[in-house]
Amino acid sequence: MRIEAPRYTERFGAVRINEVQKVLELDSGRARKMSLHENIAVRKIEEDTLKDFEEKLAIVIPVRNEKLKLFEGVISGVPHECLTIVISNSDTEKVDRFRMEKDTLKQYCHFTRRNALIIHQKDPVVARALEAGGYTDILDEDGLVRNGKAEGMLLAMMISMMVKKQFIGFIDADNFFPGSVWEYVRCYAAGFSMAQSQYSMVRVVWRYKPKASAGMHFRKWGRVSEITNKCMNSLISVKTGFDTEIIKTGNAGEHAISLKLAEILPYASGYAVEPQEFVAIFEGFGGVLPLSHQTGAKQGVEVFQIETRNPHLHEDRGTDHLQGMLVPGLGAIYHSKLCDSDTKQLVINELAHQKAIQLEEEPTKPRTYRPPKVLNLKKFAAVVEEHMASYYALNGQ
Ligand code: GDP
Ligand code: CO
Repeated sequence: MRIEAPRYTERFGAVRINEVQKVLELDSGRARKMSLHENIAVRKIEEDTLKDFEEKLAIVIPVRNEKLKLFEGVISGVPHECLTIVISNSDTEKVDRFRMEKDTLKQYCHFTRRNALIIHQKDPVVARALEAGGYTDILDEDGLVRNGKAEGMLLAMMISMMVKKQFIGFIDADNFFPGSVWEYVRCYAAGFSMAQSQYSMVRVVWRYKPKASAGMHFRKWGRVSEITNKCMNSLISVKTGFDTEIIKTGNAGEHAISLKLAEILPYASGYAVEPQEFVAIFEGFGGVLPLSHQTGAKQGVEVFQIETRNPHLHEDRGTDHLQGMLVPGLGAIYHSKLCDSDTKQLVINELAHQKAIQLEEEPTKPRTYRPPKVLNLKKFAAVVEEHMASYYALNGQ
């Protein structure tokens, strides 16, 4: 795979954010020595290197009642060396959609000679394990894991820590193209292979934004991303004193994090989860507030933003309002300890312009969860391990 070398890197304290890097070639052929000249502008990442990183990478697919055909396509796009972890919050009553997902995954694993994990978000064993590990943040009144993709992501992080993966990447189950999924994962692997720090993150940017044909869902996301990025950039420019447009992936649902970094960040629920990751990185490592982690700060936190070749098309639900998707992310920015009055005003203006709030109103503060590191992993694992066989799509085959 060939990717543009990072041309420009913005620094904010110990955080290094790389300018968007385009994928130039999906398949760069056999391993050969590159000429020195080529090496300056382009990074060639050999297949073997990609595979080395994929081996250490867990790919998490959060799913809730998606079309089975889409789910099937998504799992088929995940490179063989990765461990797929499906966290499902699909119905189990009336039509047991979870059962159907499990059967699909099982059959797929059987014929492709690989294994994968599938766990239901409402599994009482998982809730018990979280309680044993002292992490009840994501449990609801019934004592089970709350609804939501973010809560599923947190659970997946803990499972990945338990099975000792080094990286975790997220792919939504409603992606239309298995080829896009495949490329996202390769971008994750490529990003981590370029990282100099063990505390790194890779976020995907889309080249194509289908407009007319793709329906409202996509257009809304484009607009939401634009506004979120603008406010996020303001958050750092006010501190550095220089205007910046470096952040292009404030809302990127398709992203991956090294577990060393993932486990020390606090998270937000709902649509705030992805923007909050950036906010948490700036708060913890930007050097303005006290550093949240010494080793992390020493190595620095590296962020890669990679532009894929494949288009991004996902299910159009046509239900959410633009406001519903915008407010949580901007709320995360607004309520950050880093947020200055100029950025606060910008957030309010943007939200008022979208008629999401009144001018004198504040966006609500998203619910936040402590970093996964506070979990007692040993105690969590002791409960989960007993049931581990039932979570593997193939057991003993
Ligand atoms: P959007 O594309 O960001 O607007 O959000 P989607 O509605 O497509 O959700 C993103 C992904 O999260 C999809 O794969 C959903 O199936 C999945 N998802 C939604 N809600 C939940 C949930 O409560 N738990 C889990 N595990 N996944 C969820
Ligand atoms: Co979607």
